[in-house]
Amino acid sequence: MMVETHMRKQVPLQWWFRMAVLLSLIFFGACSDSSESVSFRKGLKTAPPPSPVKLNTNNFTQVVIDNGIVSLNLSKPGGYIIGLYYDGATNILSQKNNENDRGYLDVVWNGAGKPSFFERIHGTNFSVIEESDTLVEVSFLKTWTASLEGSSVPINIDIRYILRSGDSGFYSYAIFTRPPGFPAVTVYQVRIVYKLDDGRFHYMAISDTRQRKMPTAEDRITGQVLAYPEAVLLTKATDPQIRGEVDDKYQYSSENKDNSVHGWITEDDSAPVGFWVITPSNEFRNAGPTKQDLTSHVGPVSLSMFTSTHYGGKKVIMDFAKGEAYKKVFGPIFVYLNSFPIKTPFKSLWSDAVQQLSNEEKKWPYDFIGSKDFFPPNQRGTLSGRLQVKDGGGVAQPAKSSYIGLALPGDEGSWQTESKGYQFWTQTDKDGSFSITNIVPGKYNLYAWVPGFIGDFKYQINVIKPGDNIHLGTLVFNPPRNGPTLWEIGIPDRSAAEFYVPDPNPKLVNRLYLNDSINRFRQYGLWARYTDLYPKNDLIFTVGVSDYHKDWFYAQVTRSIGESQFVATTWQIQFQLENIIKGGNYTLQLALASASNSQLEVRFNKPKENPPYFSTEPQIGDDNAIARHGIHGLYKLYTVAVNSNQLVKGNNIIYLTQSIVKGLFEGVMYDYIRLESPPTTSKQT
Ligand SMILES: *[C@@H]1O[C@H](CO)[C@@H](O)[C@H](O)[C@H]1NC(C)=O
Ligand SMILES: *[C@@H]1O[C@H](CO)[C@@H](O)[C@H](O)[C@H]1NC(C)=O
Ligand SMILES: *[C@@H]1O[C@H](CO)[C@@H](O)[C@H](O)[C@H]1NC(C)=O
Ligand SMILES: *[C@@H]1O[C@H](CO)[C@@H](O)[C@H](O)[C@H]1NC(C)=O
Ligand SMILES: *[C@@H]1O[C@H](CO)[C@@H](O)[C@H](O)[C@H]1NC(C)=O
Repeated sequence: MMVETHMRKQVPLQWWFRMAVLLSLIFFGACSDSSESVSFRKGLKTAPPPSPVKLNTNNFTQVVIDNGIVSLNLSKPGGYIIGLYYDGATNILSQKNNENDRGYLDVVWNGAGKPSFFERIHGTNFSVIEESDTLVEVSFLKTWTASLEGSSVPINIDIRYILRSGDSGFYSYAIFTRPPGFPAVTVYQVRIVYKLDDGRFHYMAISDTRQRKMPTAEDRITGQVLAYPEAVLLTKATDPQIRGEVDDKYQYSSENKDNSVHGWITEDDSAPVGFWVITPSNEFRNAGPTKQDLTSHVGPVSLSMFTSTHYGGKKVIMDFAKGEAYKKVFGPIFVYLNSFPIKTPFKSLWSDAVQQLSNEEKKWPYDFIGSKDFFPPNQRGTLSGRLQVKDGGGVAQPAKSSYIGLALPGDEGSWQTESKGYQFWTQTDKDGSFSITNIVPGKYNLYAWVPGFIGDFKYQINVIKPGDNIHLGTLVFNPPRNGPTLWEIGIPDRSAAEFYVPDPNPKLVNRLYLNDSINRFRQYGLWARYTDLYPKNDLIFTVGVSDYHKDWFYAQVTRSIGESQFVATTWQIQFQLENIIKGGNYTLQLALASASNSQLEVRFNKPKENPPYFSTEPQIGDDNAIARHGIHGLYKLYTVAVNSNQLVKGNNIIYLTQSIVKGLFEGVMYDYIRLESPPTTSKQT
């Protein structure tokens, strides 16, 4: 059934449609069976076309666009969304907020050596890009001039809105341009924010299982702020079902690849309405498919995150040198509104939004975008091939379910901190085959990582030109390995999810995740469970005896020894060696899934050795994944050559010390650890 037929504002259209179909069925159906499909089409033909889109620019301070299904009021020339109407005269957006605080695009940035700045982008020049019965596109442009130095981000930003006839929602996107000569700037975050009517929207959905009735903004204000300020214990929530829970917007983060539709439902209404942010492509988001970011959260708020440093830290910024020219299109995204004419379970609005996402993905790249900076379908390229993995000796095998994609040229793995260009990712099938479609022409490298193997793959492909259809044939990834595996801990998948994720403190739970084995790491305060489990002595893992699912805590955090007092922790891996192979190096492969202001020191059999046999740089990482309930941040791989004189026949101990202690949140998450014996006869390739 067509999605449009669910929309209440279209009731007259549905009535016509149904009558026409019914009449044609009666009329033609009486003639012969074989004419039924023809008659159906004829019936469709008589249905009136959707209402034309109307643009009203007469008002000095507002532009109104209306297609008979949704209508938008946009401030002129600022470009803020101040009104959004769908099922009647009530604003979907928070009418009680100021006009610049309902729907807007903001940028967090700083000039060279200056403090950071949160700026809502305020257009200064309104113009109509296209106006026809079927489509209206308008532009709100902020042009940077030297007089704005220090007060506005040195980027020209053109915010666009598109409303088409028959659509139950609108598109928006933004074109960022730096002509040569603009000053240096660092950009931390670009996003669009929607603040909804808190009287109506209480139920939030971000995945099939991650949906719930949410606390209110007031519940957070009356609650108790916890150790990380975004986390609040809802001590006085008005809904007794919610009272006593923890709320934190970071509990609702998703990886880019899973952050394609989320929003809110007015579940209390007799005829519920859904509001959804649909992101049909990840090409304009930063840092690749596994980058995590915010979705929707208490407010009610829905975000469209284009770029941010969340779960990545300072390495994930957009840095522009003085004079550096730039252009990028963020979006378009689709804001979708839905409802059902008859009494239907309100949760089916979520399923309908997921269906709408799939419709938008099929239309991608859109062919109705006014900006010439957006590459239409016929100017994009395709790249296909097959990836194999050859780990040590043996035969190459299909690199199945690998993440493979294009990002700006850089080192292996650089895609996970790359935030300026476009990225195009897909997953290989079980044969390792892949096809990356809809690539914006430009310079790229091909990158990949293969679940089950350490390291990063890179292949230089250089330039993709409009209309290119490149077949690369078979590529082979040789993951890092110097010798046969002696033992391993964990699964090389860039996440700590397979390790021991404790139950939350019963007084600090988000009930949504209590029975959710996949998302249990999203609970608040799991870091503090380390001290509960290991009050005096740190974790000891015995190879061959311990089970990493149960005996390897998901994060190596600091240990609390009293009010605001913390100490460093040293974990031990104990293992046996039957003999020592002299003359070659053993190798410790140490893959981290996350690091926050940490320094990891590694010692072999000498717990007090100074300096340690191996140490990372001080202060590695600021991805904050521990505090923000992520199960990974940025991936880091350390390949440590271990001289055979460090090891002994019999019992050995590796000491892993995270030595930086300021408070609760320094620490690392391991992805995977492996000890390899020295290369056998010939060098392993
Ligand atoms: C513009 O529209 C707003 C909101 O409808 C209204 O309050 C205001 O009076 C209008 N201004 C003019 C000049 O029509
Ligand atoms: C939006 O525009 C309509 C038509 O001019 C007006 O009635 C309504 O008050 C406007 N809404 C807001 C929030 O300004
Ligand atoms: C501002 O918009 C007008 C059309 O309304 C256009 O002619 C003009 O070139 C625009 N100015 C800039 C700086 O883009
Ligand atoms: C979780 O599961 C347990 C046992 O099946 C049940 O008693 C409890 O009500 C569930 N909690 C939630 C929040 O669904
Ligand atoms: C062992 O590792 C050390 C340190 O990386 C290196 O200098 C040395 O050449 C290696 N020895 C062999 C035999 O590979």
